[in-house]
Amino acid sequence: MRRPGPRTIHSRVMVIFLFACAGPSADKRSVANEYSDTFPSTEACDGLTPLVVPDAEAAERGLARLQEGLGQALFPRVALDWLWLVWGEGVPTDEAQYQADFRERYGLAEAPFDNDGYPLGLHAVDSTWATVDCLLCHADTVAGVTVLGGANSRLDIEGLFTDFLALNEVAGGLGLPTVDLPYSLEGRTGAAGATDAFGLGMELSLFYAPDAEIQTSYGYQQSAPWGTMAYKDRVYADGAGDASGHRTMAAMMLGFGVPLSTIQSMDDDLADVRQAQLGMAPPAWPFDPPDVAEVAAGQTVYETACAACHGSVCQPGAPELVDAAGVGTDPTRAAAFGEREAAWVNRPSCLIRFVRA
Ligand code: HEC
Ligand code: HEC
Repeated sequence: MRRPGPRTIHSRVMVIFLFACAGPSADKRSVANEYSDTFPSTEACDGLTPLVVPDAEAAERGLARLQEGLGQALFPRVALDWLWLVWGEGVPTDEAQYQADFRERYGLAEAPFDNDGYPLGLHAVDSTWATVDCLLCHADTVAGVTVLGGANSRLDIEGLFTDFLALNEVAGGLGLPTVDLPYSLEGRTGAAGATDAFGLGMELSLFYAPDAEIQTSYGYQQSAPWGTMAYKDRVYADGAGDASGHRTMAAMMLGFGVPLSTIQSMDDDLADVRQAQLGMAPPAWPFDPPDVAEVAAGQTVYETACAACHGSVCQPGAPELVDAAGVGTDPTRAAAFGEREAAWVNRPSCLIRFVRA
C-alpha cells in the first residue's frame, strides 16, 4: 500500500476515466487460456479466468513492435558508449562488463533478444541515433531472469539524463557530440522505479497547446506489470483507466521523441501492443513454494480486509470508487486530476473521454 498522504481535507473521490476511443468492451468469455491456471498460484481457486483472450496474430505483431522499439532519435549512440566517463569508476574492462554495469547503474533489464547490446528500454534507431521506449519501465529482472512486461522497480532514468548532461561538460574536449535532450526529468523520479510518468505525458502534450492550463505533476507512480492485464477491466493503481482501450498508452510515446501526428498514425501498432500485453503471463514463482497454510491464512485476511475494494482473489470484479481522503493512500494524483485535466485529455483530437466522479 502506498505511503498514506496527509490526512487533511480531501473531499474528492477517486477519479474514474473512461476512454471513448477504447476498443470494443472487454470480452467476458469464460474461455480459459494457457495462463489461467498459473495465476493466482494458490490452490484456493481454479485459476483466474481471463476477461479477454488475445488475438494470437495481433499479439505476435505487437510483441515484434515492442522489440523493434517505438521511439525516434533522442540521443547519439556514441554518447551511450562514453557514459562511463562520468561514472568516476575508471575504464570498463570489456564490453560485456560495461553493459552489465550500465544495466546495474540505471536499473535496466538485459535484453533477451538481439538489441545491439543495449538493455531493454533503450534501442538503436539507426546507425547514429538511439532512443528510449516502454520497456524502460515495463521490463524487469526476477531472480536473474528478464521479464518482458514486468514492472521495473529499479529504474533510474533521471540518473541517465543527468549523466548525459555531465558528459556534455566534457564532450567538446573529446570530440564527442553533445546530447540535446528535448525535455528535463528533474523532479520526475522518486525512489528507484517510481516515476511521474503520467505528469510527464501531460507536460509533453502541452507542446501542442502551450496555453492549456493543466496540472503536470501527479506524484510518483510505480509502473504496473502487464502480465495481469488480461484479468482486469480497469488499469492504473487507482483503477482509473479502462483496460479495453489502447490509447491510454500513447502519451508516453511523446517522451520517446515521437510527434503527435506519428503517434496517431501508429494507432494500429498500439492496438497490437495491447494484444501482446494480454498474452503475457506473470512469471512463475521462482523461489521455494510458499507455505500452503500461510497462503490460506493470507487469503482469509485479504478476503475480509481488502476484497471489498480490490475485489476477491478468485473473482476480482470492478474496483470500488472510494473517497480519496477516507482510504488514506497518497491523494496527490487524485487531487491533481481535476475538471480541466479531464477536459484536456477529453478534447476531440485526443479521442479520449475522461469522466470525473
Ligand atoms: C517512464 C516510465 C514509463 C514508460 C516509459 C511507460 N510506462 Fe506504462 N506505466 C508507467 C507507470 C508508472 C504506470 C502506472 C501508472 C499508475 O498506476 O497510475 C504505467 C501503467 C501502464 C499500463 C497500465 C497497466 C495496468 O495494469 O494498470 C499500461 C497498459 C502501460 N503502462 C503501457 C505502456 C506502454 C505501451 C508504454 C510505451 C508506449 C509505456 N507504458 C511506457 C510507466 C511507464
Ligand atoms: C477502502 C478501500 C480499500 C481497502 C479496504 C483496501 N484498499 Fe488497497 N487501495 C485502495 C485504493 C483506492 C488504492 C489506490 C490508491 C492510489 O493509487 O491512489 C489502493 C492501493 C493499494 C495498493 C497499491 C497498488 C498499486 O498498484 O500501487 C496495494 C498493494 C493495496 N492497496 C493493498 C491492499 C491490501 C493488502 C488491503 C487489505 C489489507 C487493502 N489494500 C485494502 C483501496 C482500498
